[in-house]
Amino acid sequence: MSRRQKTNQICPKCEGWGYIQTDHGAVPCECLAELRREEAYKSARIPTRYFSKTLESFRILEQSHRQIIEFARNFIKTFRVNAPHQPTKGLLLYGKEGTGKTHVAIGILKEVIAKGYRGLYWNVPELFLELRRTMSNSVDVDEASIIDEAVDTDLLVLDDLGAEKVSDYVMDRLYVLINGRYENDLPTIITTNRSLEELRGQIGPRIVSRISEMCLRIEFPQGDYRLRHLD
Ligand SMILES: Nc1ncnc2c1ncn2[C@@H]1O[C@H](COP(=O)(O)OP(=O)(O)OP(=O)(O)O)[C@@H](O)[C@H]1O
Ligand SMILES: [Mg+2]
Ligand SMILES: [Zn+2]
Repeated sequence: MSRRQKTNQICPKCEGWGYIQTDHGAVPCECLAELRREEAYKSARIPTRYFSKTLESFRILEQSHRQIIEFARNFIKTFRVNAPHQPTKGLLLYGKEGTGKTHVAIGILKEVIAKGYRGLYWNVPELFLELRRTMSNSVDVDEASIIDEAVDTDLLVLDDLGAEKVSDYVMDRLYVLINGRYENDLPTIITTNRSLEELRGQIGPRIVSRISEMCLRIEFPQGDYRLRHLD
């Protein structure tokens, strides 16, 4: 099997074999580890665009960015599941568009996966779309398996919560998901553009009340990184 790089070119170091011949025999090429990492990201549903985004590549442009990265590092360091008396608190990352919330959430998720934990990323509007799709009989994904997988994983990232107003059907499923993680003391990282008050209007007070208890709130400072053309 040939080893390809992100650009879909054959790796120049091993010429596609995945191993390099040395005086001590064949050793795995670094592209092999990269490939395995990418496979793990894909099965965690991390979007390709964020494969290269890490906490290291998050630039400190202001003092509060330093605190955000400190929180992120501390979260990773103290991350644990199945520790009833010391559950890891989740994070609610909030702020305007383009301020780096998804970047940081995924940066954390990747490091937690690298520590050997299971992790899953869902963009919330996409999750809702999937759930709505399962209502039509013509699809083979079933609603329970989507929700169970998200309830069970060690670290769940719910990106862009409150982006749209949701139907009662979707709100019920979201409640089952959040409440499942709440009851099992499993940490969730949530990103949103909304205030808690606005979230209450979008997804209802019962869900927001649980999120407030489960998550530490971290504000991202203003300034759309996308518009600054730094990216
Ligand atoms: N401080 C930073 N250092 C490096 N890159 C950054 C920083 N802040 C944002 N970016 C980059 O800017 C782009 C937008 O960031 P991101 O997608 O994380 O924003 P967001 O807060 O999730 O926005 P939205 O609310 O619109 O989803 C990404 O490509 C991200 O990697
Ligand atoms: Mg985002
Ligand atoms: Zn190689």
